[in-house]
Amino acid sequence: MPLLWLVLRPTFATLEGDAWAKGRARVSRRLEGMVQSALTASAIATIIALVLQFGLVSEVEGGEISPNTIFSVLENRFGQLYLLRFPLLTGLAVLLIGRVRAWSLSGAGDGGRAPGRSWWIGWGVLGLGLLATSTFSGHAAVATPPVLSLSNDLLHLACGATWFTGIMVLALIVPDGWRGKAPEDRVRLLGPAVVRFSSVAFVTITILGITGTVNSYLHIQQLDDLVKTNYGRSLFVKILVYLAILAVGGVNHFFVRKKLEAAVAAGRSDPAQKLFRKTIAVEVILALGIIGITGFLTGEARTKDSAPVSPRSGVTAIQRP
Ligand code: HEM
Repeated sequence: MPLLWLVLRPTFATLEGDAWAKGRARVSRRLEGMVQSALTASAIATIIALVLQFGLVSEVEGGEISPNTIFSVLENRFGQLYLLRFPLLTGLAVLLIGRVRAWSLSGAGDGGRAPGRSWWIGWGVLGLGLLATSTFSGHAAVATPPVLSLSNDLLHLACGATWFTGIMVLALIVPDGWRGKAPEDRVRLLGPAVVRFSSVAFVTITILGITGTVNSYLHIQQLDDLVKTNYGRSLFVKILVYLAILAVGGVNHFFVRKKLEAAVAAGRSDPAQKLFRKTIAVEVILALGIIGITGFLTGEARTKDSAPVSPRSGVTAIQRP
């Protein structure tokens, strides 16, 4: 949603006329595909997480997966929040499937009608709800003070989602918009998209650094843990990848963006277009890397305090498989 508002719709609004109609249709189709894949992947990942949790609880209880173990998982906070994902995902599916293709870019330079406010609000509320199921079932829910921990984690997640999606959209979807066009025409789409995303990335990456530091402070007992514990080591690697992201993002923000801006103003192509294809490819790899490492991080025991024990299952209540 933030990417449509802040990057794609304003960019396509500058590309009026039939010349861009095919590109616009291709981008809308790819966005629809991306949303459908994300919804399907979320549902599958949620089922896998639940099944792994059933296995973990049955192991702790020393037996097979039984109706009892299933109920004990579904009754604790983790199980309930993960179950809540299904109605949220269904709501998103009803709201988005078929409509992202028809509405996401309509009214942005094509003379059509922009989607109504209720569509955006529904999408935003359900999307935030989905992110909140992660926040409230993870380490953030056992850290103190809870208000700081939960709101900080939700902001971290929302910025992470916006930045990550932006990288994927720029790398995998935007190029479909200019297929078959000459380099000096391509820059009319790439230039404004990169300039706009550059600001979004600057803000989200800065907030990720700040909220990530607060998260680290809330979950790490002492600095030594960064090398002595699995949680700390995962966090340490995550910070290194983040620094690499800052370096590559810096090239885009301070060099590529300026070159593309000048090229758009002069109506010509620029070698920075090719450089951008390389830097964005590196960013995709780093983005996948940082999400992967976060998977390890959230699966390890944090080192500050110890998580409470679920009265029913006898395992850490907020275990992430
Ligand atoms: C591109 C940058 C980043 C992305 C995309 C990202 C993404 C994420 C995601 C998706 C989570 C899971 C939150 C949840 O499930 O509730 C998370 C948690 C976390 N992140 Fe980041 N993050 C980034 C940068 C950072 C940085 C720079 C730090 C440290 C300075 C950091 C520290 C943490 C910590 C400590 C957690 C909590 C893990 C837990 O629940 O135990 N992150 N991050």
